[in-house]
Order: sequence, then C-alpha cells, then structure tokens
Amino acid sequence: MDKLVIEGGVPLAGEIAVSGAKNATLPILTAALLTTEPLTVSNVPHLRDVTTMLNLLAQMGVRVSIDERLGVELSSARIAEPVAPYELVKTMRASVLVLGPLTARYGEARVSLPGGCAIGLRPVDQHLKGLQAMGAEVAIEHGYISVRAQRLRGARICMDLVTVTGTENIMMAATLATGTTVIENAAREPEVADLAHCLNAMGARVRGAGSDVITIEGVDRLHGARYRVMPDRIEAGTYLAAAAATGGSIRLTGTRPDILDAVLEKLREAGARITTGPDWIALETNGAPGAVNVRTAPYPAFPTDMQAQFMALDSVARGTALVTETVFENRFMHVQELKRLGADIEVEGNTAVVKGVAHLDGATVMATDLRASASLVLGGLIARGATTVERVYHIDRGYERIEEKLSKLGARIRRVR
Ligand code: UD1
Repeated sequence: MDKLVIEGGVPLAGEIAVSGAKNATLPILTAALLTTEPLTVSNVPHLRDVTTMLNLLAQMGVRVSIDERLGVELSSARIAEPVAPYELVKTMRASVLVLGPLTARYGEARVSLPGGCAIGLRPVDQHLKGLQAMGAEVAIEHGYISVRAQRLRGARICMDLVTVTGTENIMMAATLATGTTVIENAAREPEVADLAHCLNAMGARVRGAGSDVITIEGVDRLHGARYRVMPDRIEAGTYLAAAAATGGSIRLTGTRPDILDAVLEKLREAGARITTGPDWIALETNGAPGAVNVRTAPYPAFPTDMQAQFMALDSVARGTALVTETVFENRFMHVQELKRLGADIEVEGNTAVVKGVAHLDGATVMATDLRASASLVLGGLIARGATTVERVYHIDRGYERIEEKLSKLGARIRRVR
C-alpha cells in the first residue's frame, strides 16, 4: 500500500490550479442513467471515488469512454443490471446516488445497504422516505435496498434533516416523475446546485437548487448534454488551510471564492490576508496562525469536510480553539493521530478542545477516512522532521495528485509504493 513521506517545516508558497469537485462529479455521473442519449462531462477529477463510480455504472451496462483530456462520455442506452453490489457500495457510500435515477428511468433499483461507516451511522432513511412519497415501494432484503415503481409521481417532501445525497437522489428521481415535486429543507450545498444545472442542461425543469426549497416539474424524457463540473471547494480549502498552518503564501486558480465564504472567514480570523478575484484566491500569512473556533453545519455554514484540516491548523495556533462537529457523530478519528504528532487535543462529546503547541514532531500516522487523512498530511507539513502517512488510498479518493500539487508549492513530499 502507498505511503506519503513528508519532511515538514516548509511554508507553502506558489500557485496551483484547483480540480473539479468530487462531490459534484459523483451525482452528475449518475444523472447519465436518466437518459438514453450521451452525457459528456468535463473537468472530471482523476480520483479513486470517480473511478469507483465509473466502474459501478459500467457494470450496470453504461458505456463509458474517457478522452485524453479526461472528458467522460456516458451512454446509458441500455441498462443490463440496475444493481449496485455490496463490493462497490462498501468502498464508496455515494454509490447510493444511483437509486433515484434508476427508479425514475427503469422503475427498479437494487442497492446494497452501505453498512458500517467510519464516520458515523449515515443512514439512508431520508432517501427512501422521499422515494416512497413519490409512490415507490421500498423493501430491505438480503442486505439490499430494493425499490420498485411504475412511474414516480410528484410529491411534497419535507426532509427531516439536511442531507446532500438524499436531496440529490430525490431531485434526480423527480425529473422524470409525473407532476411537480417540492423538496423542503433541501440541502443548499453548491454541489446540489451544480447537479441541478446539469439536469436542466439535459432538459429537466428544476428551480430553487441552492436554496432550501427545490421545485422539480417532471418531464417525459431527458436528452444528452455536455456539462463542465464546478471546482472543488474542499480541495481549495484544504490547500489554503495548509498554507495558513505552515505560515506560507499561495494562490489558487480555477476556483470560486463565492462558495468558500465560511472557510475564508475562518482563515482571516486565524490571521491570514485573503484576496480574491472571480476565479482565484490568494492567501498570505505572517507567522503562526491564531486559534479559531469552528462549528460544522450544513452549507452555507462551516463544512464538516474541512473540520479535520482546521484541527491540524489549530494544533499549532496561538491560543486554544473549540472544534465542534454537528453533522456526523463520529468524525474525530484524526485526533488520536494528531496527538501522536504532539498535538494537545481533548475530546468532550462532539467538541474537541485544541490547545495550540509551539511545534509538532514527525511520526508515522494512519487515517481511517478521507478528510482525516488530509489533516494528517497537514500535520506532516507542519511537523519538524519526517512524517509517514499510511493508507494513502483514503486521500486518493478525494485529492487529485496531492503530492504533485504540494511539491509545486515547495513541500518536501513523496509517495512510496
Ligand atoms: C455528503 C458529502 C460528504 C459530506 C456530507 C455532509 C457527497 C458525495 N458526500 O455526504 O462529503 O461530508 O455530505 O456535508 O456529496 N442522514 C440521515 N438520514 C439520511 C441521510 C443522512 O440521518 O437519509 C444523516 C447522516 O447520518 C449525517 C447527516 O445526515 O449525520 C448528513 O449526511 P448527508 O448530508 O446525507 O451526507 P452525504 O450526502 O452522505
């Protein structure tokens, strides 16, 4: 298994381009199931989760071709098997995103129950509640969710809690339903809006995506389209946090500052100077960061996917910070590993008390999920001496060529196979 070896202590400096958003790409790829015509998606990041999704779609009978510039063309003229098997779902929970499109177009879907997940229970009850409200029959049999429907009917659905992929599943299902669907308490994440733009380019009638009420007027069929995925705000936030934590100065291109407000605000609070243009963000620092409290919540509040990286930043900040996680119930696995680098962190319930220390010291660390791994890479960049981050496959799920991008910013990092 690959490892990353980092010689820390170098302030990051320079310019890199941000990749396409993983969490927009995954639902957009599944939207190809809604039409018999080709959907061509560009700015697709080269990530393990994307490969997993393409494998899943190919296994169902979708024709997948990739051009030399990583544009992906998907053609779902014929679906052989509307099934997402356990082997794929257990490696990527976002596989559940095929449920809505398959039910809408084929009247049938079988998706393995995701099972235990490292960062909490993450049930899918809201996805199922929405499909049932639209007339689908749902059964749980032999570890699989089975959904059947003749033709889905528009419905008014009020989500009990804000769920990103739940909102996306219902939105996709509703595009081909009869009548109008209204999703209340919808997730407002920019990736939900990006999916809606893609669906509308395919002939769907979706309004209000990006707000907490989304209205979808069903149509009889969708057609092919070409769509460019939005930039990854979590990747951007991670590099900015890394620069702030190492006392560096970087510039990101191909990004969107307007969807990073909560993160940029916290970086400013930590003492960074931030300037932005329509598609770039520059960050400059003046020494060690100041401690910043963060509390995660659905968009537009501070993203749970940035919590671990800010914990790494706070571990060497001046002062004490409170980091509160409200979205997932078990998302502090990076704490023990950051402590192995010398961080002073105590967890009480869903809050971590992080007392900034003067420096971290390199060690061998290992992560159990994607963003936790990112925080350990940050820890390694900050720490004195060598840090080895094991189980790099978690990072490869969500960060495109991380060691290349960090090297370009001056980090001493290499992958050991
Ligand atoms: C998506 C993102 C993930 C991010 C998360 C929260 C993708 C592919 N993944 O995950 O990176 O961390 O949003 O911003 O976009 N819940 C229920 N019942 C449901 C669905 C969710 O109780 O039916 C709970 C979950 O257990 C969790 C919370 O709702 O505590 C939020 O989960 P959700 O927004 O659904 O996360 P994902 O869509 O899986």
